[in-house]
Amino acid sequence: MGESILMKLEEGHRVIKDLMNLIKNEHDLVHKKELYLQMREELLAHMDGEEKTIYRHLIEDVGNQESEEVAHDAEDEHEEMRHLCDKLDATRIEDENWESTFKALRHQFLKHQESEESALFTEAKEDFSREELSEFGEEFEEAKLQSHP
Ligand SMILES: [Fe+2]
Repeated sequence: MGESILMKLEEGHRVIKDLMNLIKNEHDLVHKKELYLQMREELLAHMDGEEKTIYRHLIEDVGNQESEEVAHDAEDEHEEMRHLCDKLDATRIEDENWESTFKALRHQFLKHQESEESALFTEAKEDFSREELSEFGEEFEEAKLQSHP
């Protein structure tokens, strides 16, 4: 049996969080921009992958309101993060607004990660078997590969 999607998501969160910390502490703006682009690609593919797999299963397969709600809330949080990425893309990194927008994105991500790993993971463990969670893990890898942010 392959690795559970929940393990893969935790790994992904760690990668994104580490990149965000590097960006936060980087003073060389050229390097900072490169790190941002790398993090942005990871984050957008990760969110796409989640929406196409675990969120979709929670919304469509379970038939309970709590599972649907937890996934819809997470989707709304993703929307906010996409919006903040768009804002960062449209701002020059030299601009002082870039830093405050990045701070907002990082804050939003950490908040989202926390609620996802508690509420959404708990819901997923209640709703799906270990076999299903491992199948979703493979679907997640596939969806990430097909995502072209
Ligand atoms: Fe997420």
